[in-house]
Amino acid sequence: MKLTNYVNGKWQDAGNRKYAAVLNPATGEELAQVQMSSAEDVDEAAKAAKAAQKSWAKVPAPKRASYLYKIGRIMKERKEHLAQVLTKEMGKVIEEGRGEVQEGIDMAFYMAGEGRRLFGETTPSELADKFAMSIRAPIGVVGLITPWNFPVAIATWKSFPAIVAGNTFLWKPATETPMMAYEMSKIFAEAGLPDGVANIVFGAGSEVGTAMLEHPDIRVISFTGSTETGRKIAELGGRNLKKVSLEMGGKNAVIVMEDADLDLAVEGILWSAFGTAGQRCTACSRVIVHEQVKEELQKRLLAKMESLTIGDGLDESIKVGPVINKEALEKIHSYIEIGKQEGAVLLAGGEILTGGHFDKGNYYAPTLFTDVSASMRIAQEEIFGPVVSIIEVDSFEAAVEVNNGVIYGLSSSIYTQDINRAFIAQRDLDTGIVYINAGTSGAEIHLPFGGTKGTGNGHRDSGVAALDVFTEWKSVYVDFSGKLQRAQIDNEI
Ligand code: UN1
Repeated sequence: MKLTNYVNGKWQDAGNRKYAAVLNPATGEELAQVQMSSAEDVDEAAKAAKAAQKSWAKVPAPKRASYLYKIGRIMKERKEHLAQVLTKEMGKVIEEGRGEVQEGIDMAFYMAGEGRRLFGETTPSELADKFAMSIRAPIGVVGLITPWNFPVAIATWKSFPAIVAGNTFLWKPATETPMMAYEMSKIFAEAGLPDGVANIVFGAGSEVGTAMLEHPDIRVISFTGSTETGRKIAELGGRNLKKVSLEMGGKNAVIVMEDADLDLAVEGILWSAFGTAGQRCTACSRVIVHEQVKEELQKRLLAKMESLTIGDGLDESIKVGPVINKEALEKIHSYIEIGKQEGAVLLAGGEILTGGHFDKGNYYAPTLFTDVSASMRIAQEEIFGPVVSIIEVDSFEAAVEVNNGVIYGLSSSIYTQDINRAFIAQRDLDTGIVYINAGTSGAEIHLPFGGTKGTGNGHRDSGVAALDVFTEWKSVYVDFSGKLQRAQIDNEI
């Protein structure tokens, strides 16, 4: 199967263009070949998107939204198929695959509702017989660069608000997971979305991403991925005066206080650390635990980790799937040596799994380090795999300090029964998302998603906040006095 770009409502026969193999991380099997596009392909898609945007912006927003309702309905009908494709190309277990597709469906219906809101503001003018309002205006052609760990959900967080607001888009999905984007192109076409509103260009970041950032007709770049790549995007985007929205790394912690319900905390840690094999930007990779309960928590966590079944995510009994590719396996594994050399104690895992079906895929054993100090590299750097570090503290204040003592600020969590402490924590934990008595992952689509410090640059995906990325504020004044009135001059009392 050849996955070709979707431009101006057509799948482009790439002719003699280059292709790359798409592999199933659970089995190593080749699933498809994906087009590796060039700057010319980006230019062609951007031109189509620009031409389409003129008329798309004039379609009433509730009508634009009706396409989203249709897209949501088709996704819902096709949910199981989409989840299967997602699990095959990305590796997450099928239950999570279904959850991710559901996230996309929910986003479609939620953003479709925005078609009848897209609220602006009216406000009094300082002058008589004059009316003032601010409205959300579309920006134009927007560029979306999405990661492989959430091949469809993150794309919907970005593309659905973009189009309901009257923009057209050019989407570059991760080369590891192009099949979901291809599925979405079929859905866009079936929903009757006018040609050129949705465009998909497959290829490498260095080629396609760079061309998007340099293209004069693309006004916005919304990116989710690593902090390293995000920084390059911000630099290039800055030079080209693009509006750049970045969603990057995390080093998320679960804090367990001495009064916590320990079994509940263990469940939360297990889910947010080893779900998606730790490959979420919201994944828990640090557990900050009060010294009074450290031993007990560790014991219960280790016992529960033994029940984690590892394998191909298409098998319903599996809890932890493979990691995305061989490079990820090597990167994760390199941190084991780093941790040991720094003096951390390895309690479980720490190995690439081999033998039988493990040999064909990319499987890493769920890993637990203890006696980790907050400044060690394993407690500071994003590993993006099933590796957790336990850090002991002697007070709530110390826990907050350790939580905040990293360059990232995406998600944090605290387990405590003390309501006052919970409120202090939600105030003082310096992350874009805070959980009380729940793990670090599980963001819902109608709330803003994003982080502080090295995780982002002030923008948010998802929720109404996403509209801020994809709209420009336009202030409109209507003077119906019939005479010249000078604002900020004729207003003295
Ligand atoms: C991500 O890992 O980039 O909160 C997104 C969560 C999911 C989204 C994660 N709803 O974990």
